[in-house]
Amino acid sequence: MSARGFLFAFIVLACPGLFLAAGQETTPPAKEVTFNHDVSRILNKNCVVCHRPNDIAPMSLMTYKDAHPFAKLIRDDVVARKMPPWHADPQVGEFLNDPRLSDADIATIDAWFRTGAKEGDPRDLPPTPAFSQGWHIKPDIVLTIPELTVSGATQDAYEYIYVPTNFTEDKWVQAAEVLPGDRRVVHHATVSVIAADKVAKKEEERSKSDAGVDKYHYRTGKVLHLRPEAPVVDDGCSYPTGGGVPGESSGYLNIVPGIYLPGHLAETRPPGYALRVPAGSYLQFQVHYSNHTSDDVKDRTSIGLVFAKEPVKHEIAQYEIWNNLFLIPANDDNHRVTSCYTLPQDVIALAYTGHMHFRGKSMVVEAIYPDGRHEVIMNIPHYDFRWQETYFLKHQFLMPKGTKLVTTAYFDNSSNNPQNPDPSKAVRWGEPSNEEMMGFWLQFADPRLVDGSAGLARK
Ligand code: HEC
Repeated sequence: MSARGFLFAFIVLACPGLFLAAGQETTPPAKEVTFNHDVSRILNKNCVVCHRPNDIAPMSLMTYKDAHPFAKLIRDDVVARKMPPWHADPQVGEFLNDPRLSDADIATIDAWFRTGAKEGDPRDLPPTPAFSQGWHIKPDIVLTIPELTVSGATQDAYEYIYVPTNFTEDKWVQAAEVLPGDRRVVHHATVSVIAADKVAKKEEERSKSDAGVDKYHYRTGKVLHLRPEAPVVDDGCSYPTGGGVPGESSGYLNIVPGIYLPGHLAETRPPGYALRVPAGSYLQFQVHYSNHTSDDVKDRTSIGLVFAKEPVKHEIAQYEIWNNLFLIPANDDNHRVTSCYTLPQDVIALAYTGHMHFRGKSMVVEAIYPDGRHEVIMNIPHYDFRWQETYFLKHQFLMPKGTKLVTTAYFDNSSNNPQNPDPSKAVRWGEPSNEEMMGFWLQFADPRLVDGSAGLARK
């Protein structure tokens, strides 16, 4: 038997599971697989973006010394497609930022592990990828909030901080990344654009102890909750608002250059599409702090912006669509909640994000077009709070005015859900992460060409 034939037989016999797990047959690599020649290239391309010192992953995979102790875990996680993380159903939609490995790369990593996880010839080692510390993009500008102390006692707090851009002309943002100052306490951070003349009013509203409190909401400290007497609507689609509290639509428009969510790195929009940050405007940092350490922790969260380098054709904004009235009973392991929203204008669909908290289990979004056609546009079959990716469409497409977006989510409020903070509690909408949310966000662009003056119809 030739060496190649032997290796093939060895892999097939030693690892029948691989071919089942990968779902189809793969061609095993022809010669000896080493870290330096083969595996490092795969890790550099697909893993070290997170697996490098001081980033979100628990260990670095930059060097042989770093990676070798994890050879088996690496093999197991890539064969099971747990790594790199990706939670959208591959059968529904094609996405630009889909990081899933090819079957050939998975076979290479498997073969490497099976043949002793060898280092190989140092001359084969590709150059180490260069990174700027912390960032996953190369920002043209970084805007940072003033230092804020999150006291050890803080369970959950939403802070609103307004940072002037000092832009003297309109800027077009292509890519952005929100970088937490201290990941131990920053649960999420949404950065939106706000006009300078609105800042004072917003700050005044926020400074009141009853900010956000109304007929349907009450406040404890710096977070809002739904009042228990608010109507219970699980099937938002059967309710006049589609899932919003009475008198409010389920969907609203927001201009969000960047967001930090668990497992969410930078957002890079396709060429020709960008967000407008008008001259003189401010960025509102909505930072959700949650300090589970007993110490006071200082934070300075930043946003890095990359400006469009080529002509912008279409301006980006976002519809955020919610059910805010659901009630998930205690111990219910499969609770269904829906929301419905009908697009008030033509949009070009760019990207999707699903947002729930620890009890979120799955989310499906269906578009019902004005011509009656139905299409499932996003499916997250196994939602995981720790991985809230934004899925950027490979092929942007027109969603006409009148398209109805039907979101169906399931929640697991039982003890089978290892992330569940408390199965004995019924939960409703609330800002703290141990309460729930049910949101679908559509990042879109205005189909009308940017001509320098026309902007989006910001209703
Ligand atoms: C988007 C960031 C990201 C990327 C890309 C990524 N990882 Fe991870 N990885 C993480 C984080 C965060 C964890 C820890 C949390 C978890 O296990 O869910 C992790 C955990 C792991 C673990 C388990 C460690 C343990 O101790 O259990 C392995 C093995 C691993 N990653 C390998 C890889 C490999 C191999 C790749 C590339 C093919 C990769 N990862 C790509 C972020 C990432």
